[in-house]
Order: sequence, then C-alpha cells, then structure tokens
Amino acid sequence: MTNSNQQGVVIAVGNQKGGVGKTTNTVHIAAALGQRGFHCMVMDLDPAAGATKHLGVPVNSFAGTLELLTTDETIDSLAIADKMPQNVHLVPSRPQLSEIDNLVSKYVDRTRILERPIEEARAKYDFIFLDTGPSAAFTTTVAAYSTAEWFLLSAFPHPLSLGGLTEAFNDIADVRKHRNPGLEVLGVVFTNVDGRATRLRAQLEAVVNEALPGRRFDTSISQAVILPDVSGRGKTLFQFPKFENIPAAQQYLRLSVEIEHRVRHREAYLQGALGPPPFAAMGMIDDEADRVTPALAANE
Ligand SMILES: Nc1ncnc2c1ncn2[C@@H]1O[C@H](COP(=O)(O)OP(=O)(O)OP(=O)(O)O)[C@@H](O)[C@H]1O
Ligand SMILES: [Mg+2]
Repeated sequence: MTNSNQQGVVIAVGNQKGGVGKTTNTVHIAAALGQRGFHCMVMDLDPAAGATKHLGVPVNSFAGTLELLTTDETIDSLAIADKMPQNVHLVPSRPQLSEIDNLVSKYVDRTRILERPIEEARAKYDFIFLDTGPSAAFTTTVAAYSTAEWFLLSAFPHPLSLGGLTEAFNDIADVRKHRNPGLEVLGVVFTNVDGRATRLRAQLEAVVNEALPGRRFDTSISQAVILPDVSGRGKTLFQFPKFENIPAAQQYLRLSVEIEHRVRHREAYLQGALGPPPFAAMGMIDDEADRVTPALAANE
C-alpha cells in the first residue's frame, strides 16, 4: 500500500465512555500494522495524552497536536519517530490541548480544523489513527469524527457497557446526519475480554449484531495484565523481544489483518458481502483468547 499515489486511510478510534481501551487499541493496532510494513501515524487528540504516554513520550516536552491545529506547523515537523514502534510516528498531545477553544480563532469552523493536517498525513502514511478522549463534545473529538472516513468503536464487555454502546451508536448516527455522511463504522472491537464471561459477551455481541450487522470484528482482545504493564513502561507489546509469543500481540496482528481486509474491500464490506480474511493462507491461527499470557519478564 505504500506508494506515492496512495491516499492514507483515516480511522477515528472512539467511544464517549472513558477507560474502554481506545488508546491501548490505537497504539497496538498501529504497531501491528507497522510490524506488517504499513506506515502509520497516531495523532493524539486527547488532552489527557494517553497515546503520548503509552508510546513513552514525556508529556509537555514536545509540540504536537495543539500546534498542528492552531498554527501552520506541519505533520512533518511535529511527528516523532524516535523510539516508536516500527513504522509508527506520533504527533503527541499535552494537557494544554484542553484550551484549544481559546486558541482557535472564533471565525474558524472547529469541526474542520483537522482537514489540513489530515490531507498532509494522507499523502505520507498508509493509516492515520485519531485517538480521541472520552468526551464526544470536546472540540478535537468532534473534529475527528467529522473528518475521518472510518470509525473504530472500542468497548470493554462490562454489564455497564450496554448503555454506553447505545450512546456510541447514537453519536455515530448524529455525526453522519449532521457533519460527516461518509463516516462508516470500520468495526466494533471488544477488548479486556474475560474468557469466562461468555454469557455477558454473547449479550453484548447480540446488541452490536442488531445495531450494526456485520460490523463486529471477529477478533477480540483478551484481558491481559501485560497490557497495563507495557503501557506503564511507555511501550507497545511489539517493542519487546519474542512478542510473537504473546497472545495479545497475536490478537492485535490478527485484528490488523481484519482492518486491512475491510479497508481494501470497502464496497463489499459496506454491502455486507465481504468474507473473512484468508487467515490460514497468511499463516495465522484461530483466535487464541483463552491462552495463558506468559510473564513479560520471560520476553525481555
Ligand atoms: N485487553 C486488556 N487487558 C487488560 N487491561 C487492558 C486491556 N486493554 C486496556 N486495558 C487497560 O484498561 C485501562 C483503560 O484503557 P485505555 O487507556 O486504553 O482506555 P481509553 O478508552 O483510552 O481511556 P480514556 O477514555 O481515559 O482515554 C488501561 O489501564 C489499559 O492498560
Ligand atoms: Mg485514551
């Protein structure tokens, strides 16, 4: 996909609910695609700077999305490549991003502030991920939903997720109606999945299947203590030796294949006519959600 004529694909990762795996998914899906040779950009659009911290960049030490959205700075000058996962670049965030409304001219349409940077990013990257904060009303979240072509919904299978999912579906419908009719749901990914809570999972899957038929990802990400652990170390799983032995890394690789497949075969996917990716031909095994995660220490 990496050629000069190719336009990168823009994916907003969202859910108005806090702490449901948006950031963990964003950085790991980007790193998985990067591992497979795609050039990925992660734009951190959350003042809490989750993706920035997860990728090990000290908050407040670099200019980033605030400058990108309020000045003429370019992606090229702001993107961080040092110590990132393979083929991944980051435009970082910092708490001051929360003041963006005071820093953008009152004559600028806030929903469109991402258009220029995204146009630049499309020419340089295969995939551009927009990590949003847990407020659907915040300026950068609205701008991300208004500008992206795909929406990736991240959810934890928790009993309280049911209401949250419905709210997220309504948000997406509202964006399509009022701002961005081209926004399509790339998929719903369940993460932090407890292999034992099969009934709850089936209930939530039924809710998604009913509201968004065919849009749930086949791959889910298991509950894995290794994920908060590596996040605390400012890294993704893919930056540790022997990551291929870690089930969650395998799941993210498999998810990245599903994402690529849907994006490549957009029309068939949107018409509900797309089969699964050729996992077996790619040497990928079935979902291994129930396998035990080895200790990280064994991989260092
Ligand atoms: N599969 C998983 N297994 C175990 N813990 C996980 C998993 N995925 C994410 N987590 C943990 O859950 C917490 C919330 O995840 P994350 O920060 O990715 O959510 P978020 O939706 O980005 O949150 P916010 O809305 O605050 O930005 C983090 O501590 C993260 O490490
Ligand atoms: Mg986050």
